Amino acid sequence: MIRLDRFLSNATALSRSQAQRVVRAGRVIVDGVVVKQASSSIELSAQIFLDEVLVAAPLPRYLMLHKPVGVVCAAQDPTHRTAIDLLDLPNPAGLHFAGRLDIDATGLVLITDDGHWSHRIVSPVSQCAKTYRVWLADPLDEQKAGRLAKGITLQGEKQPTRPAEIERLSSKEFRLTISEGRYHQVKRMFAALGNRVIRLHRESIGAISLDPDLVAGEYRPLSPAEVAFF
Ligand code: URA
Repeated sequence: MIRLDRFLSNATALSRSQAQRVVRAGRVIVDGVVVKQASSSIELSAQIFLDEVLVAAPLPRYLMLHKPVGVVCAAQDPTHRTAIDLLDLPNPAGLHFAGRLDIDATGLVLITDDGHWSHRIVSPVSQCAKTYRVWLADPLDEQKAGRLAKGITLQGEKQPTRPAEIERLSSKEFRLTISEGRYHQVKRMFAALGNRVIRLHRESIGAISLDPDLVAGEYRPLSPAEVAFF
């Protein structure tokens, strides 16, 4: 079931308030009956006409965004541009992030209005792998990198991090794969070794990799195969 005004704003270019107005004006017919209550619950399978034009059922949306620096993963923000602001979509309400990135981090962000799908990505039970490219302020030796691989205790926490995969790309550049999503986890893992992350870029979430054709700020719908990974 879905609210009628939400259905209309998902399925057409109408905003939620415009959808409410057309419903109140008696311009919407649901399964043969004029419905004037915008908050009415309707079946997704309902047949809906607006001004005698059949309105297609809204499909859930699944997007990948190449997040640039300076953009926040939030629905609204008083001072910064949000990742949702970057989307040129008729009805962005209802979209949310399947895992956020910090304002100074770049790379893959998955955005959807399918809460079951995003739950399978972010739920701690799923232990979904996320791979980051990490640039450090200072060189990190093999022995310290090995501590990340085993699991390390973060400041203010008791439970060590789960074992991670770490690949050395240079003395200050690493590829790290973690299967948790603790607050600022990557930065705090390196901070626990006395180092500092100066640049962070997410390359992949599970089997979905950032499309190399997307420059920072661009997005595209996921393919059906990518959606089916979760
Ligand atoms: N870990 C961090 O520290 N920041 C992010 O944005 C993602 C993971």
